Amino acid sequence: MGRIQDRSVHLPYNATQNHSTNSYRRSLIVLVALLFPAAYYLNFSSLANLFQSRYGHPISYHEPDFSHLSSHCADIAPIQASSFLDRQRSLAETLYHLKASAYIAEPGPSAAYFANLTSASWHLSERPLLLIVTPYIDHIGTVQAQVSVLTPSFEATRAKLLHIPSSVDISYPEWPEHEDPYAAALSVVDNADKGAVIYVDGAARHFIVEGLQQAAPHAVVRGAPIEIRRLRERKSKEELEIMKCANEVTVLSIREARKHMYIGMHESEAGALVVKAMSAAGLRGPFALSLFGENAALPHGSGTDRVLKAEDFILIDCGGALHGYESDVTRTFLLPDSSPSERQLNLWAKVKHVQTVALNTALNGTITGNVDKTARKVMGDYAPYFTHRLGHGIGLEGHESPYLRGGSNDIILTGHTFSDEPGIYIEGELGIRLEDCFYIEEDGKPVYLTSGVGGQARSPWDL
Ligand SMILES: *[C@@H]1O[C@H](CO)[C@@H](O)[C@H](O)[C@H]1NC(C)=O
Ligand SMILES: *[C@@H]1O[C@H](CO)[C@@H](O)[C@H](O)[C@H]1NC(C)=O
Repeated sequence: MGRIQDRSVHLPYNATQNHSTNSYRRSLIVLVALLFPAAYYLNFSSLANLFQSRYGHPISYHEPDFSHLSSHCADIAPIQASSFLDRQRSLAETLYHLKASAYIAEPGPSAAYFANLTSASWHLSERPLLLIVTPYIDHIGTVQAQVSVLTPSFEATRAKLLHIPSSVDISYPEWPEHEDPYAAALSVVDNADKGAVIYVDGAARHFIVEGLQQAAPHAVVRGAPIEIRRLRERKSKEELEIMKCANEVTVLSIREARKHMYIGMHESEAGALVVKAMSAAGLRGPFALSLFGENAALPHGSGTDRVLKAEDFILIDCGGALHGYESDVTRTFLLPDSSPSERQLNLWAKVKHVQTVALNTALNGTITGNVDKTARKVMGDYAPYFTHRLGHGIGLEGHESPYLRGGSNDIILTGHTFSDEPGIYIEGELGIRLEDCFYIEEDGKPVYLTSGVGGQARSPWDL
């Protein structure tokens, strides 16, 4: 499902400790340090288990070591400078064909896509810093991209330190604070004073769009159309290699973390294990939503930090970024000594079946909304308990267009990437969600981004 504000578990590994109980804990550690070797020596594992479950995570001799996960994506290269130039050229060609004068974006996912300008490399403030891409015809008649960056004058030196690839010299229109920033931005746009069409990234803030329109009253300032949005939506081979690895290593992280989970642990501890594994795997900004039993019936959690019981499903929804590309995986699973009911297992199998059918309908040329519709139909009697959309696009953002939901009429095309995440949520009882992201292969068929490590979960014990 993805990153959820204020609900994600970002706890350091032992962050569940309460400061007020520290001295009590210290004496406990001494006691446990004496008791544990004895307990292990005598194979008195029930005593060890008692300490594990009553005092949170075991004060064990072996903190989980996930460092072996770091090799999985070690050979995956970040996006190359030449790819940014290709993207800029495609954008310029698209603008040219649309008879538009410019494309403008604030630092963020779209500017990151076209020019390596992330919101981490330049934080948004009330002072506009804008990426401006304009098409021009070179001496042999081909369309090329001119990259410009509008910068506050006093920040110009810092703006020029940004790592923005470009095939020609970047121009840096500056605005001193006693002048209008938007007039400075438009100084690099052809026909801005006439009827120029200027496309603005959909995520640009309203005051930016308004400022541009006011500075160029005769121009048409509009949100970027589908032809431009699709450039970023449809992933290249290079991007798919990154996304496959990010999603694979996310599955591996859940599998490895599961080995350290036990009946009696807290939701936050299970989440922290997964976050620790993903960090060790090299994912940036890892998040994990961790829900046990009936808590998972609220798709974004309850915040109670419940303890795991033998009859509970564990739901982990997690991900992180590799070279800027987000992963998103959900597994609902059991431990070797869990004791689920027949009904739980049947519902799990139902969700898995829906996930499989939904994937197989997401072929090139299909309308996005129809995939969601099919998933709901296959849910049958449980459709009312499938309370959210089937999936979302994913890439430089955890959730991005296009979406697999009702009312969405985008066309699925090769290179598109989506999550496939049906679920059943019965309040007071349980929640089951299974999520794997997939891409549309050159031949038009959908393939899980997790297929390199087995694809979708096979059973609640076999992730
Ligand atoms: C993109 O920017 C990052 C820093 O934000 C830099 O490390 C990286 O080398 C840049 N990539 C290219 C291709 O210039
Ligand atoms: C995908 O669908 C589009 C639109 O229907 C079509 O133009 C294209 O040829 C299809 N590509 C493949 C590989 O089937």
